[in-house]
Amino acid sequence: MATNENDTDQRWYGRRTGKPLRASRKRLMEELLPTIRLDLEPENIPIDLKMLFPNPVREVWLEIGFGGGEHLAEQAEKNPDFGIIGCEPFVNGVASLMKHIDANGVTNVRVYDDDVRHLLKLMAPASFERIFILFPDPWPKSRHHRRRIVKDETIVEYARLLKDGGELRFASDHQGYVSSALRFLLQNNNLQWTARRSDDWRIAPPDWAETRYEQKAKAKGDAPAYLRFERKQRSI
Ligand SMILES: C[S@@+](CC[C@H](N)C(=O)[O-])C[C@H]1O[C@@H](n2cnc3c(N)ncnc32)[C@H](O)[C@@H]1O
Repeated sequence: MATNENDTDQRWYGRRTGKPLRASRKRLMEELLPTIRLDLEPENIPIDLKMLFPNPVREVWLEIGFGGGEHLAEQAEKNPDFGIIGCEPFVNGVASLMKHIDANGVTNVRVYDDDVRHLLKLMAPASFERIFILFPDPWPKSRHHRRRIVKDETIVEYARLLKDGGELRFASDHQGYVSSALRFLLQNNNLQWTARRSDDWRIAPPDWAETRYEQKAKAKGDAPAYLRFERKQRSI
């Protein structure tokens, strides 16, 4: 399904393209991407998302805004029995993920190379066991806060899409964004913060894979926050 900018108030992502792709990445975009691209035509979305992957997977995870794909590729390599859908509209980021996938030969990744809002609308409740939103664009100006990908109405969607006991992982080095995300997440009755002590949000979980933006933030001396929320049991 193609992006239809008219059905949304505005774009949430920054740029769509960057520097021209070098020949090897261009080739991967032409040859590898079509084989793993997620087709969002409703008749092509399997009821069980696990069917998207050639080898059996236990659960499906979603990473929104994977940037250069470093985290996604490492998680896919370390967790071959999970399927991961990555969503990213920035062409150069998608090309970077293709390079990682080509290098490590994983088969458990599918890519939606467009705005996540299209995907969110079409997925069935309880589709994902985990959702990663890592160092999303902070949109620091208050007139742009509505573009943030973690806010009241998107959190309702993330809670809908998570399986019972599933986890939403949010990380950011932007204090204002962390505060507003935490406030909205705590307001959602279907999600529960898993932190018991400050180290639980100051330190990345043990199965973490560092992202490019996380590295940049740490190099500047900024301390990211790592928020983990569990989807509560649905009542029967
Ligand atoms: C600041 S970058 C962080 C990238 C990566 N997660 C990292 O930590 O290195 C935020 C990414 O989110 C993507 N993004 C923004 N809005 C999006 C949307 N509506 N759907 C999917 N991705 C989006 C951007 O294209 C960008 O690559």
